[in-house]
Amino acid sequence: MIFLTTGLAKMAEKIVLLGAKGMLGSEVYSLCAKDNIIAFDLPEFDITNKKQLEETIEGANVVINCAAFTDVEKAESQYEQAFKINAEAVGTLAQIAHKKNIYVIHIGTDFVFDGRKETPYLETDEPNPINAYGKSKLEGEILLTKNHNSCAIIRVQWTYGKNGNNFIAKLISLSRQKNSLKVIDDQFGSPTWTQEAAKVIREFIAKKPRGIFHYSAAGFTNRYQMAKFVFEKLKINTELIPCKTSEFKTAAARPANSRFCCDKIQSLLDKPIELWQKPLERFLKTI
Ligand SMILES: NC(=O)c1ccc[n+]([C@@H]2O[C@H](COP(=O)([O-])OP(=O)(O)OC[C@H]3O[C@@H](n4cnc5c(N)ncnc54)[C@H](OP(=O)(O)O)[C@@H]3O)[C@@H](O)[C@H]2O)c1
Repeated sequence: MIFLTTGLAKMAEKIVLLGAKGMLGSEVYSLCAKDNIIAFDLPEFDITNKKQLEETIEGANVVINCAAFTDVEKAESQYEQAFKINAEAVGTLAQIAHKKNIYVIHIGTDFVFDGRKETPYLETDEPNPINAYGKSKLEGEILLTKNHNSCAIIRVQWTYGKNGNNFIAKLISLSRQKNSLKVIDDQFGSPTWTQEAAKVIREFIAKKPRGIFHYSAAGFTNRYQMAKFVFEKLKINTELIPCKTSEFKTAAARPANSRFCCDKIQSLLDKPIELWQKPLERFLKTI
């Protein structure tokens, strides 16, 4: 079941990472490789299997849950499966962690909001998901906090990283196939590198704060401007044409505003959160 172990047990705590092959999980694993971290993911480990979950987190001090059903489009037609992974399994994790006194760091999403707010979302804002994925993730948050109190939910948004099928990967892949690309300019957020989010998670392992926290890079942009930034830095000549969300037919609705107010999490962090352009530029140099 274990596919990765570090053998470098310098930290006294036993940390279990779920969803370790995913875009965020793989960054957390790389960053914490010198700590006592054990990593799990499909196909060897299935978070919806209660017995496996119980065995997997036995003896852990900290569990980081990056496992999730993240296909926003498929979640519309496969809600039952999305709910099992994003909600039910999180509730089971909470119950086990509560019994065993394990601190849980769970990853949440901006998709719990409807995106109609015109300013950045606060942790105290009322969630109102507008698609099936967002609903399943919100149910997971509710089940976690109902069953366990030694936990933190870090909501992230517009994440990108080397191991994921994210917006940047899609842009680069499409630029190889087309001379021009239409990109929406009416959805706003803060592109956030999973490597930066992993650093935050590592600070949470040490500090163990409780509650809901919003994390993203500072500043904000829209998808079209983000694409322009990426193409300029990578010297990609494909023409970018701004367009509106209504021009794209998708199964799942997306929030127009994904911006987070990160004041709460910033007060806990060792360093100021950087403007989105800086980490994105560093990331682009790695690919
Ligand atoms: N990507 C974003 O823009 C974004 C934005 C906001 C929030 N988030 C949240 O960030 C967290 C990490 O997501 P990510 O971007 O790293 O997505 P990801 O790359 O899809 O990673 C999720 C991982 O969970 C695994 N997984 C799925 N079902 C599982 C199961 N039943 N048991 C065990 N593992 C399972 C996946 O395996 P398979 O690939 O084999 O299915 C994958 O390795 C999630 O909670 C997500 O909701 C992501």
